[in-house]
Amino acid sequence: MGYGNPEQAYAEQINENLTVVNAPFKVGDRMDVGARATFLRVDSESGESKLVVFAPGPISEASASTIEKLGNGKIDYLVVPNIGHTMCLKQYIEHYPGVHVVCNKATAELIPEHEAVTVLETSHANREVAPSELGIAGIDDKLSFLFVPSHLLKEVAIYDKTDKALIFGDLFMNVPGHSQYKKADAPGWTGLLNKVPLFLYKATPDSRVQPLLLYYLLYRDTPLTREFVKLIKSLEIESFIMCHGDILSGEYGWKVFNNLFHNFT
Ligand SMILES: [Fe+2]
Repeated sequence: MGYGNPEQAYAEQINENLTVVNAPFKVGDRMDVGARATFLRVDSESGESKLVVFAPGPISEASASTIEKLGNGKIDYLVVPNIGHTMCLKQYIEHYPGVHVVCNKATAELIPEHEAVTVLETSHANREVAPSELGIAGIDDKLSFLFVPSHLLKEVAIYDKTDKALIFGDLFMNVPGHSQYKKADAPGWTGLLNKVPLFLYKATPDSRVQPLLLYYLLYRDTPLTREFVKLIKSLEIESFIMCHGDILSGEYGWKVFNNLFHNFT
């Protein structure tokens, strides 16, 4: 499991406040699923800009220049989707010691020495959690946090209200991530051992296998997952910005989501 050469990471500006950094990333030395970190600048009620970083990869030229541009070199909030996305957590805390981390319990246990940590727990499950409820003031109209405890890794996600984007780690995948291998030496999904798992995780409006993987493997409590799916469907979402694979937009994105989660409706 790991990232490739940091020089293969590149920043893709979605709009003036939202940039993603795409990079090659491998699970189990075999499955090239790619990775994406999301950088979101929000204007708080006090007029101050805050930079929220979701699921960061290694600090690279691409991420450092994005932080410089959107946060004047400073990060305010670091959101970690789950324990599978903690490879670079300590590196970030070392570089940005004042950062406020928002995560689940398993992630928080990795950084006991860090003071500014807010943990999402059962009382936050499957609803929009306002930042003010977590002690984060002034940005309730910009985003909400989601906590999905029925996910195998107890996922923490963000709903970006301005861009109508669901930003998440592993709720589902849309591999292969062509956008994440643009700067790689070679496409990351060649070879049979790679193609098989990538086929299994194919995300289309009629893919058959990933819905079963989600139902039997990734989500552990069907009634709770139904609540999660109901929550997602209640949100106005124009983009699904996941960590692994290509971003899904508009009506097509919803068709994919509805197919992948049809066993939970
Ligand atoms: Fe992941």
